[in-house]
Amino acid sequence: MRRGFFLVFEGIDKCGKSTQARLLAGAFKRLGIPLILTREPGGTVLGEQIRRILLYFKGNVSPMAELLLYEASRAEHVASKVAPALRQGKLVICDRFTLATLAYQAAGRGLNLSLVDRLNHWAAFGIKPDLTVVLDLPVSVSLKRMGRKRDRMEQKAAFMKKVRRAYIELSRRRSDIFLVPADEPVDRLRETIEHLIKRHPKFRRFAKSRRLFQ
Ligand code: TMP
Repeated sequence: MRRGFFLVFEGIDKCGKSTQARLLAGAFKRLGIPLILTREPGGTVLGEQIRRILLYFKGNVSPMAELLLYEASRAEHVASKVAPALRQGKLVICDRFTLATLAYQAAGRGLNLSLVDRLNHWAAFGIKPDLTVVLDLPVSVSLKRMGRKRDRMEQKAAFMKKVRRAYIELSRRRSDIFLVPADEPVDRLRETIEHLIKRHPKFRRFAKSRRLFQ
């Protein structure tokens, strides 16, 4: 039986989601909400090793192998961390989840969308986020924030544009995904996000059932 609440942060690279996830977790912890803050790829010992391969492996990785590595990290993460925390009634705040795979591997790398969707479903054991907040940032700002690593910039820009477009389109199609303009000062963005989550009917039901904010 699932009693917790599953909240996911998404967006293109350097959109500020990790900072916002951390700030929100801190604020909710101070309110006494039982929660875990975690991330994908990663979140477990095995997942963090897979993350290192995904982010730092020097050779070429084929798109399908890359997809399966993300899904392997996810399967371990959901089975050993996310699902148990949700069963215990906790708030799970996760920095990226299945939407990232649709945006990066399907839209970005061109892998078949329904294949990615099915693998996402299997790797997540059917668990879906209750709410996903996509921080939307122009690609030019993302690239600027990447700073000194300006190699293969045009290629990166084209890829990131596809990813951003996918996030925007997916958020239009689904009522559980919120697109938030992220080119804002950190504190203003934090307030917007906190407000959005606290007044969301699903989150309010969770808070009420757990007798939070009382
Ligand atoms: P991070 O920027 O959130 O640390 O994520 C690391 C990278 O992993 C980022 O470039 C996005 C990428 N990613 C995918 O391509 N597919 C996925 O399914 C996930 C979870 C992340």
